[in-house]
Amino acid sequence: MDMKVFQPIEINGMKLKNRLGLPSLLNNPVGENGTVTDITVRWFEERARGGAGLVMTGACFPFDPGIPALRRLALSIADDSCISDFTKVARAVQSHGGALGVQIAIGGPMLGLSPSPPPYPDETHAKQTVAEAFGQPPVPIHDLSAEEIVQFEEAFAAAAVRCKQAGADCVELHCTHGGASLCSTFISPFYNKRDDEYGGDWEGRLRFPVETVQKMRKAVGKDYPILVRICADQLLGPRGITVEDTVKYVVPALEEAGVDCFDVSQGDNIRSVEGISIPLYYPRGCFIYAAEAVKKVTGLPVIGVGRIVEIEMAEKFIREGKADIIFMGRQLTADPETPNKYLEGRPEDVRKCIGCLAGCGRPCPINYDIQDKPIPLTPAEKSKNVLVIGGGVGGMEAARVAALRGHQVTLIEKEPELGGMVAALGLNPLTEEFANIIDYLATQMRKLAVRVRVCREATAADIEELKPDVVILATGSTATIPEPARGKLGVMTHGEASKNHRAIGQNVVVYGFFGAELAIYLAEKGKDVLLMGRSGEGSLGSDVAQARKWWIIRKLTDVNVVRETPAAQRLNNPKVLFNMQIEDFTTDGIHVADSEGTRSVLRCDTLIFSRRFGERKANDSLFDQLRTKVAEVYKIGDCAQVRGIKDAVWDANEVARKL
Ligand SMILES: Cc1cc2nc3c(=O)[nH]c(=O)nc-3n(C[C@H](O)[C@H](O)[C@H](O)COP(=O)(O)O)c2cc1C
Repeated sequence: MDMKVFQPIEINGMKLKNRLGLPSLLNNPVGENGTVTDITVRWFEERARGGAGLVMTGACFPFDPGIPALRRLALSIADDSCISDFTKVARAVQSHGGALGVQIAIGGPMLGLSPSPPPYPDETHAKQTVAEAFGQPPVPIHDLSAEEIVQFEEAFAAAAVRCKQAGADCVELHCTHGGASLCSTFISPFYNKRDDEYGGDWEGRLRFPVETVQKMRKAVGKDYPILVRICADQLLGPRGITVEDTVKYVVPALEEAGVDCFDVSQGDNIRSVEGISIPLYYPRGCFIYAAEAVKKVTGLPVIGVGRIVEIEMAEKFIREGKADIIFMGRQLTADPETPNKYLEGRPEDVRKCIGCLAGCGRPCPINYDIQDKPIPLTPAEKSKNVLVIGGGVGGMEAARVAALRGHQVTLIEKEPELGGMVAALGLNPLTEEFANIIDYLATQMRKLAVRVRVCREATAADIEELKPDVVILATGSTATIPEPARGKLGVMTHGEASKNHRAIGQNVVVYGFFGAELAIYLAEKGKDVLLMGRSGEGSLGSDVAQARKWWIIRKLTDVNVVRETPAAQRLNNPKVLFNMQIEDFTTDGIHVADSEGTRSVLRCDTLIFSRRFGERKANDSLFDQLRTKVAEVYKIGDCAQVRGIKDAVWDANEVARKL
């Protein structure tokens, strides 16, 4: 195949079979106290078997940080007893032609270590990060002495030697993501306010990582590849590390210190987490400019990363000279076989990451197999006639798995198209990545010859005709609109609004914080939008992953005015109101009351009910009717209990893998 991305490349003697790799992700399975388990080995092996040329471990700690939560999250390479376990990982990866890299990291302010007291004492984001990531209150910040710094440098060097002894193909120094990493915070003018030799100017701020690389180099010798993951853009503007700083100061200093390759990423785990765990709102490949800038000033190989899910995009970036190697993190998490499927000429079988950040592999909402103990997918003992009612994600997944196992499958969907609720999310450009899973499953329906009938509501006649041995009910749930508003002109559910943007007027009220993304999208389209909900500020983004939540909050608060009462002047768009109850809906408008009982009337031409689970009702009425007619009847997804995508996919597999 004449694609650059599948051509080999060498980094200081390390031969990579292609230019695709798994970056460091702290989603790798970890045993007691940071140990490698069989599941850990399998995790990395699966990514190598799937075709990745380079497989990097998640950040590993080079000495015991003494934080129990971290010991459960990250692997330890803190002493020589760890070496044999890493050898197992290396051999497993290498047995598939891959190379193993071990990333070593010491946490920054997130773990209580900082070059100087961080400048965000009363910032809720900073506090939240620590509390959310480690399930404990913010760690007191410890201002490091020069002696401690030297000890850390030596710990890194000793860990690098262990990587080499274990047979790993390279070691990577974690020098990125601002507050996540001690090295990164030393470099950053935002965090490092020291006036000793480890601060002051670029030379001083770079001293700790530079000395670390020098010591690592001395310890492992000149022929062992050392990669460094840098934060090319801290995404804090001139207060943090900028791309200009990176190319002018960081790259030359680290190159001189002896690194062999720059793995270029961006963001700050405390201040701009969306740059690291990039939510679906950002365009694919949006941070490649950082690698491109580094590549212009170094002759060393450069790795680019960030929301790259397609091999075609990886190929394009490499051809354009923006990077030499492309890392795909969440994509190779969601579908480890991505490179091989592409090589085998079946790219349509790639399950593209939806960027939802809900689990990131532990579990992955769109891939049931990405977990520690999935029920194996084996051929069925007896081929059965399976009828799936409902063509949403759950229904299609059940049909796919049942068909793969050798059952005869028919799927009936009452709407003209497949995808159910998730298809509606896919219609909002901000969340259109959700369409990936629909495209994948719809394609599998065709490839597996599932008989799909759309525009058809399943009836008793279908049961008579098809005589199924098994019925899987995946009929989802329906949003209910409360009585005073039900049936009124301009009132619609979230799904209806998503599917029919033309029905949405100029003055819109979105009721329910599940609709935050829709509200932002409509405001960006020029509508006047008010987002309000029954609950308080804490519920904004509470149903989505951290990086998505922060993006939502930032969009709604940083650039807009968050008000508590409807009396507030509408200054920005969308405006947000908390603790609001809808009391009535009349020709005058929506009658609302705030938490203090203050009543007002809001005028709008469209009211969208965007409540998540609370006001959705399972569509399970067929269940009782079918139980007397069909030997096996199962409910899955929302039809069993109103929940999210992951549950629909899980239910589907747990039923279809046992038929
Ligand atoms: C769950 C999760 C854990 C991560 N852990 C690490 C880590 O340990 N070290 C690191 O350098 N980057 C880490 N990252 C950043 C990723 O390596 C990668 O840069 C990021 O996911 C963007 O790439 P992607 O869009 O291809 O996933 C993590 C990201 C996620 C989502």
